Amino acid sequence: MDKMWAGRFEKALDKQADDFNSSIHFDCRMYKQDITGSMVHAMMLSRQGIISSDEYHEILNGLGSILEDIENGSLQINMDAEDIHMFVEAELTKRIGDTGKKLHTARSRNDQVALDVRLYLAQECEEIGKLILSLIAAIKDKAEEYKDAIMPGYTHLQRAQPITFAHHILSYAFMLKRDFDRINDALGRIWSQCPIGSCALAGTTYNTDRAFEAERLGFTGISLNSIDGVSDRDFCLELLSDFSILMMHLSRFSEEIILWSSWEFKFIELDDSYTTGSSIMPQKKNPDMAELVRGKTGRVYGDLMALLTTLKGIPLAYNKDMQEDKEAIFDAVDTVKMCLSVFTPMVGTMTVLKDNMYKAAGKGFINATDLADYMVKKGMPFRTAYKHVGEIVAYCIKENLVLDTLPIEKYKEFSDIFDNDLYNEISLETCVSKRISAGSTGPDSVNKQIDFLTEFLNEKDIY
Ligand code: ARG
Repeated sequence: MDKMWAGRFEKALDKQADDFNSSIHFDCRMYKQDITGSMVHAMMLSRQGIISSDEYHEILNGLGSILEDIENGSLQINMDAEDIHMFVEAELTKRIGDTGKKLHTARSRNDQVALDVRLYLAQECEEIGKLILSLIAAIKDKAEEYKDAIMPGYTHLQRAQPITFAHHILSYAFMLKRDFDRINDALGRIWSQCPIGSCALAGTTYNTDRAFEAERLGFTGISLNSIDGVSDRDFCLELLSDFSILMMHLSRFSEEIILWSSWEFKFIELDDSYTTGSSIMPQKKNPDMAELVRGKTGRVYGDLMALLTTLKGIPLAYNKDMQEDKEAIFDAVDTVKMCLSVFTPMVGTMTVLKDNMYKAAGKGFINATDLADYMVKKGMPFRTAYKHVGEIVAYCIKENLVLDTLPIEKYKEFSDIFDNDLYNEISLETCVSKRISAGSTGPDSVNKQIDFLTEFLNEKDIY
C-alpha cells in the first residue's frame, strides 16, 4: 500500500519495518469509533465553514457506507494498511474521490487515536459494568439461598469464629460493588476530556469548535491543553488499575472456591459444566475455571505494568511507543470480560454442602470467644475470662473433647461462674444469631446487607 506521506520519501518502507510499524491487526477493532469520530468531525468542519455542506454529506454518506459494509461483511479491513485511521481515510477517498481527502483537516492521528481509544473503552466499560452487576446478583442470590448455612470463618486459614455462608460470600459482593463504582468514576473522567481538535500537539489555525464536537460525541467537556490531550493515557492506566483490583478480588474468590471444592474442605461442589476431568486420574473433578481466573489475574497485572513502563520515560507529546497502549488495554478488557462471563454462572450453579460446613464449624473451638463473652457477661473482666478459656481449650484438646461436650462439673473446676446455660450460649446457632453489631454475621445484619444490594441492583435495573 502506498503511504500517505510517500511524497517526502525516495524509498518505500522496508517490508519488515512496515509490519513492525503497523497496528491494524489490533486497532481494527476500533473501526466503529473511528468512523463515528470522523462523522462528527466532518459535521463540525462543515458547521464552521471549513468544508462545504455538500462535501460534508458526501463524507458522511461515504463513511456510513464503509461502516455498513464492514458490519455486513462485504468490506474486509485491509491488513496492509498501517492502522485503522489510515484504512478508513483511504477507503473513503477510494469511494468518494478527492473530497475524502478533506476529512483530515484540523485534526491529526494523534488526537484521533486518543479519541478512538476513549470511545472504545467507554463502550467496553458499559459491558464490563453489566457483567459485574450480574455477578453481584448471582452472589446475592446464593447468599439468600444459604442464609442459615453455618461455616467456620477463618483468620490465618485457621478456624476462627462461626459465620454464615451468606455473610462470607456477601463480602465479595461489596468488593465488586466498589469495582463497579471505581470503573464508573474512571468513565466520568474519560467522558470529561475530549481530546479531538488538539491536532498533532499544538492545536490548529482553523476556526474549529471543539466543544461542539465533544458534545456531539457524548463528552461532558474537552481537554483544555492540546499537548496533554494527545499525550495523556492516564485513563488507560486508571482502567488497568481498576481491572487489576477487580481481578485480584476474583482471584481471591477463586482461591476459596478451589480450596472449598477440595476433599480437605468439601464445602461446595462445582457444577459439572464448570469443571474438568483429568486425562489420567479417573476420579478427578478439577476447578479449572477458578484456577484460570486466578492465573489470568497475573496477565492483567502485567498489562498494567507494561503500560506504566512504556509511558514512564517518553517525552511529550505523541511518541510511537504509545501505540503499545492498545494491546495492553485490549488484552485486559478481553480477559476481564471472559473471566466475569465464566465466573458468574460458575458461582450461580455451585452447590453448597451445608452439612460439611456445619461439621467443620463444630471443630476448632470456634466458639471460644463466645465462651469468654459468656463469662464477661457474668461479671468477669475479659482478659481473665480469655485466660480461663485458653486453659479449658487446652484441657479439651488433651481429653479429645470440645467446649460443647465438656461436662459442667469440669467447667466448674475452672471457675464457679459457669452454669448449665453456657451450652446454649456457645452453640453455633447462638454464636451466629447473637452477633448484633452492624455488618456482622447475625441474621439482622445479613438481611440488611442483602436489602442494600437488592436496592443497588434495582437502581441499576438488574431486576
Ligand atoms: N497507530 C497509531 C497509534 O496507535 C496512531 C497514531 C499515529 N500517529 C503518528 N504520529 N504516527 O498510536
